[in-house]
Amino acid sequence: MPETQRNAWKLFVLAVCCISFLSIIHPVFIMYVSIDNFDPNIDDKRRIFIYEYMIDALRKNSLPSEGYQKRPETQHIDCGRVLGGDKSYTEKLIGENRIPLIQNNLLNMSCPAIQNRIHPKNRNFIPLKSGGIAFARIVYTDYEFIEKQLEMSWHPQNVFCFTVDKKSPNEFISRMQKLDECMENVIVLPATESYDSSGHNMNIGQKRCMEALLPKAGWNYILFLQNFDVIVKSVYELERIYELLGGVNDIHYCKEVQGRRVPGLRWDPKSMHLFRNESGISDKVLNSPMRVFSGSEQASLSRAAVKWLIEDVDINIAIKQFNKTAYGCDEQLFPSLQLNYEYGMPGHFTDQCPDYDGPKQITRMTQWANGNINNCPSQIVRHGICLIGIEQLEELSKIPHIMVNKMIPTFDYSVIECTAELLYNRTFLGQKDHQLDDQFYEELLHVTYHKHHNDPGYQLNCTTPNTMENYLRIRNISLVPLVRSD
Ligand SMILES: *[C@@H]1O[C@H](CO)[C@@H](O)[C@H](O)[C@H]1NC(C)=O
Ligand SMILES: *[C@@H]1O[C@H](CO)[C@@H](O)[C@H](O)[C@H]1NC(C)=O
Ligand SMILES: *[C@@H]1O[C@H](CO)[C@@H](O)[C@H](O)[C@H]1NC(C)=O
Ligand SMILES: *[C@@H]1O[C@H](CO)[C@@H](O)[C@H](O)[C@H]1NC(C)=O
Ligand SMILES: *[C@@H]1O[C@H](CO)[C@@H](O)[C@H](O)[C@H]1NC(C)=O
Ligand SMILES: *[C@@H]1O[C@H](CO)[C@@H](O)[C@H](O)[C@H]1NC(C)=O
Repeated sequence: MPETQRNAWKLFVLAVCCISFLSIIHPVFIMYVSIDNFDPNIDDKRRIFIYEYMIDALRKNSLPSEGYQKRPETQHIDCGRVLGGDKSYTEKLIGENRIPLIQNNLLNMSCPAIQNRIHPKNRNFIPLKSGGIAFARIVYTDYEFIEKQLEMSWHPQNVFCFTVDKKSPNEFISRMQKLDECMENVIVLPATESYDSSGHNMNIGQKRCMEALLPKAGWNYILFLQNFDVIVKSVYELERIYELLGGVNDIHYCKEVQGRRVPGLRWDPKSMHLFRNESGISDKVLNSPMRVFSGSEQASLSRAAVKWLIEDVDINIAIKQFNKTAYGCDEQLFPSLQLNYEYGMPGHFTDQCPDYDGPKQITRMTQWANGNINNCPSQIVRHGICLIGIEQLEELSKIPHIMVNKMIPTFDYSVIECTAELLYNRTFLGQKDHQLDDQFYEELLHVTYHKHHNDPGYQLNCTTPNTMENYLRIRNISLVPLVRSD
């Protein structure tokens, strides 16, 4: 073989070895690289027709003074028709015709203007009898979208905490800080750390928000969110769902993803200095390694759990150790504390049902591509997860979950706008397009466990007739797959 050919051959072998090696140490590598197809760029042809819609909307210049106000980009969209299941209409809003958000470079960032966008004076709020909700969101981009999420869940009794990625553009950081300055029930913490899609430092951001929110009175549950999570329930529905959960934490969990934890670290509570006061905790609990589970960052925790996480235990060492993991490092802390029932976190569950396959969490709905873009109604995938588009609005209005991951404003803003209009209608117009199924929430296994596990003679039954599949089938909701196959 001539020298150049031999070198080329060597390079080829090296490349193949590298790729195989990466995929062994990091099983998600191949999946993510091979099918992610989200492109945030908008080509010129699309830009022109979106601008035409915007110009038409601005020319009309006669915005209705009542009801939900859509942006110029999306003013032509009839969310009611989409919600009503008009398939031929909805088909005209997808593919090349999707409407992304066009950033408003002239956005008025004065306090009165911000307040007026988030809670205009003409909106009447009914008091939340069982208490407000705390929202903790880690953000890095798309200010106008974030502000919209704040509007969608705003209520005078709710409180909001944001942690902002240090490496975000200055404009984004200063706009976020404006929210802290202008809004009484919004805390925006200083941007002191960086986050990434592997989850680094996320648990630290969550802890900082818990510390900031705990002194605020009036909330019973905290909801942890990331940048592109969209809540699909109105504030009154959220209040009811949390009332039905009755104090249990709602945390996704599954077997620990192999190869995540770096070896050589000690995971027993004693070594991690987990319990601030070790008297009263048995030696067995103190010295046995924590059983580690994986899950997701998005979760709902009771106020009592937050108080425990801040005051009764010290999670700093656990956070530091999990943060050494290369990918998904933020997804182990809460599930592990939740299932190690002997630690006594308020609202905990148990790992005594290893084969349980009923609904584990109703906080987050995610559609996994599982290696095939045809699994996604939108045919668009980012980090292995389907992006949600306008064609799914009707289904989203009926799911039992609190939020979906993910909707991206530069991909499809119509679904975000129509979700906002839907929640507006439910909140302020008393629209009843969806009835919460109380029984479904009450019969969730972690809910019944929480309610009864201290009863004398309590027997945990790990099977449930209450499956997510049944829930969706009875209501003709086609949402598959909801489970990650890895
Ligand atoms: C919201 O309510 C308005 C007024 O009743 C209606 O025209 C619109 O279709 C509704 N939209 C949604 C998404 O429910
Ligand atoms: C911004 O909004 C405030 C309050 O609505 C208004 O007084 C002010 O004139 C606006 N600024 C600009 C530049 O439009
Ligand atoms: C530590 O816990 C024990 C037993 O639960 C309790 O009696 C004691 O007061 C606690 N100490 C402090 C400093 O809280
Ligand atoms: C978490 O991990 C990231 C990435 O390795 C690192 O930059 C950061 O300093 C770590 N944070 C802490 C508190 O150890
Ligand atoms: C456990 O629950 C299932 C479903 O509700 C029921 O069919 C079964 O009889 C229960 N098992 C026991 C031991 O109670
Ligand atoms: C589900 O679809 C079937 C067949 O199309 C229909 O008969 C049934 O009424 C639908 N159920 C609901 C709850 O919409």
